[in-house]
Order: sequence, then C-alpha cells, then structure tokens
Amino acid sequence: MNIIITGASRGIGYETAKRFAAIGDNNIIVIARNEPKLNELKNECTHENTKTQLFPIVFDLENSNSYKDDLVVEIKKYISTIDIVINNAGLLINKPFDKLTDSDIDRMIQLNLTSPVKLIKSLFPLMNRPAHIVNISSMGGFQGSQKFQGLAVYSAAKAGLASLTECLAEEYKNTGLVFNCLAIGSTDTEMLREAFPGYQATFKTAEMADFIVDFAINKSKFFNGKIIPVSISNP
Ligand SMILES: NC(=O)c1ccc[n+]([C@@H]2O[C@H](COP(=O)([O-])OP(=O)(O)OC[C@H]3O[C@@H](n4cnc5c(N)ncnc54)[C@H](OP(=O)(O)O)[C@@H]3O)[C@@H](O)[C@H]2O)c1
Repeated sequence: MNIIITGASRGIGYETAKRFAAIGDNNIIVIARNEPKLNELKNECTHENTKTQLFPIVFDLENSNSYKDDLVVEIKKYISTIDIVINNAGLLINKPFDKLTDSDIDRMIQLNLTSPVKLIKSLFPLMNRPAHIVNISSMGGFQGSQKFQGLAVYSAAKAGLASLTECLAEEYKNTGLVFNCLAIGSTDTEMLREAFPGYQATFKTAEMADFIVDFAINKSKFFNGKIIPVSISNP
C-alpha cells in the first residue's frame, strides 16, 4: 500500500508510521518540519522491516500556497498512487479565548482545518479507487462532548474537519473514495503534556496508533462519512 501520514515527526503520527512500517511492504510518505526526527523514524522503520520504504518529506503545512507546486511534486517522486491518507498533523494552543493572538487563531485553523482541505484536494488525482482518507480530529470537536476551557478555536477547527469528512463522503460516494474522521480522546503525547501539564491521558500513544492503523486498513468497508469518537468517557 501507498500511505501518506502528516505530522509524523513525533506523537501519534510517529507511532502510526512505525506500525504501518512493521507490516507488509508499504511505501510510506511521512510529512513534518523536523528533519532529524523524520530521519530517525526512517532509520527505525527500515531497521525493523527491510521491505518497508519510508520517504520523509520536510514541509511546513502552514505554507498553504505551495501544496500543489512543492508538496505534491515531491510526493510524486516516490509514489504515483495513494491508498491511505492520515491527516494527523495538528496544532493546539491552550489559551483563554480573549487572549488568543491573530496568529494563534490563524495557525490553529490553518493546521487543523485548511491544511487537510488543501492536502486532500491536491492529492485527488493520485488517489486510488478505493482509497481511505482518515482525518484525525478530537473529542473536543465532537458534538455534545465535554468541552475544555482554552480550546475554543482548536475545537472549532476540529469540528470543521469532522464536517468536511461528512461532506466529502457524500460528494464522492460510490467513487471508491472513503472519508472518515476519528475524534480521538486524550493520548499521552508531547502535545498533550505541553498543553495540560500533569493531565492523566486515557490512551498511550502506541495504543492509539494501533487503533488508527487497524481502522485505516480494515474499516473502510464498514464506515464512510463517519465521525467516530475514540473515547471511553461519556458524554
Ligand atoms: N494527544 C492528544 O491527546 C490528542 C487528542 C485529540 C486529538 N489529537 C490530535 O491528534 C493529532 C496528533 O496529535 P499529537 O498529540 O501526536 O501531536 P504532537 O505530538 O504535537 O505532533 C504533532 C505533529 O504535527 C506536526 N506539525 C505541527 N505543525 C506542523 C506544520 N506547520 N507543518 C508540518 N507538520 C506540522 C509536528 O511536526 P513538526 O513539529 O516536526 O512539524 C508533529 O509531528 C493532532 O491532530 C491532534 O490535534 C491529539
């Protein structure tokens, strides 16, 4: 399979890439800004499974104007078709709403919503039929969930990503393209630790990565256009 994972230099994306790499002979494109970490990931993955090919692409997903010209051109050097896209890169700035700067707001909307929009659109011509696009959202952006102070714009952007998923599934139903959204619960990553020091996460990063990989590979025939809360708490 040919797989693209954004935000793979740490946290959930890093572990997800490792799990895809451990199984089969996948070609995996991993995207983030931190080149040394992406290279570390490549070394780890190819050491574990020599059949895996992992291609790091250093790209700033806030650079929304160059997706088609720079990012897709780079991707096409390694693969010509795509089976799975994991839109995982995200940005959380935990601040009271009235203290957010314009830059905080723009960056969170860009990374959590505009970037997946532009990436999916740019990758359309390369997508196989079937292909599974998995958007990583948050329980904070899931309708009716318990909300957290300081996350208004982050959660709103993640809710937008969930809505995008539903709309694209409808617009492209019966084409072989499948879109789903995982609204994940708290997972023990640097993002969570930096934003909420001392908070006890529900899931380990590796557990969440296992879930995402299994979902991306095996569940596209059971779900389309769904926003799935990956959480053990209610509401
Ligand atoms: N952890 C949780 O509890 C939790 C809960 C709900 C939802 N989520 C969502 O799950 C996803 C992964 O979260 P995580 O906790 O693993 O986050 P993380 O540890 O902060 O990792 C975020 C990843 O996104 C990449 N990224 C950030 N800005 C970027 C940019 N401008 N261009 C390219 N890549 C960029 C980072 O790489 P570089 O810095 O190298 O660019 C990093 O690889 C996010 O979408 C997050 O919102 C997480």
